[in-house]
Amino acid sequence: MRLEILESNAFYARAAALFAEAASAAVAERGRFTVALSGGNTPLPLYDLLADQYAKALPWAATRVFFGDERCVPPDHPDSNYRVAEASLLSRVPLVEGAVHRMKGELDPAEAACDYERALRSEFGERQIPDFDLLLLGVGPDGHIASLFPHTEALCERKRIVVANFVAKLATYRLTLTIPVILNARLILVLARGLDKAVAVNAMIEGPYQPEMWPVQVLQQATGELLWLVDPEAATMLSVG
Ligand code: 6PG
Repeated sequence: MRLEILESNAFYARAAALFAEAASAAVAERGRFTVALSGGNTPLPLYDLLADQYAKALPWAATRVFFGDERCVPPDHPDSNYRVAEASLLSRVPLVEGAVHRMKGELDPAEAACDYERALRSEFGERQIPDFDLLLLGVGPDGHIASLFPHTEALCERKRIVVANFVAKLATYRLTLTIPVILNARLILVLARGLDKAVAVNAMIEGPYQPEMWPVQVLQQATGELLWLVDPEAATMLSVG
């Protein structure tokens, strides 16, 4: 696991450079780049930067876009992770038809999870646990990643690759990749900014292992590369840095 502490502009420039590096390496080695985008606000300046400065520099025609999680809302709903990514990035770069696979939040949650599992199997193969070239994650102040919230059922799921996870504190279902898929990514890039993430970042890096309480801690079992990009505020509680 690597941790880099960077201020705002440098933070997003670094995230964009890592995204570009992962894309170029994947296409050079395997002919395609598979990425799972994160929801939330933290990645939005990254999506803008990629659209503004990397629209020509990246192999978008060989890129396949998925999502780490989604809210159970239609794709045009303000809360939709797809809608936000579509507006800030996906509609602004030359992806090929059919390259974007959104989780269908408008469907019944269980049906949407099965639908997305089919989409992943079609891309990655029936038997293979999807091995994204790049999996982007944010982290919640409570230590959730994707829609794997503390003390929720999805934290125990080790067979399915996508589930509908009921999040009691939100009183709603969320669609989410499961831990086996997240841990199988070649590169996991976690973006964390702001003082409200300091406790979760500290729990991840230095806290006792209690993944039910701090789901982000499961990332310690990642089989690929794990890189944390945090700003000084989110790093406030770390003894290093
Ligand atoms: C979502 C995200 C979620 C997000 C964290 C951090 O659907 O909201 O996937 O896991 O990454 O909640 O959100 P912020 O970046 O807005 O702080």
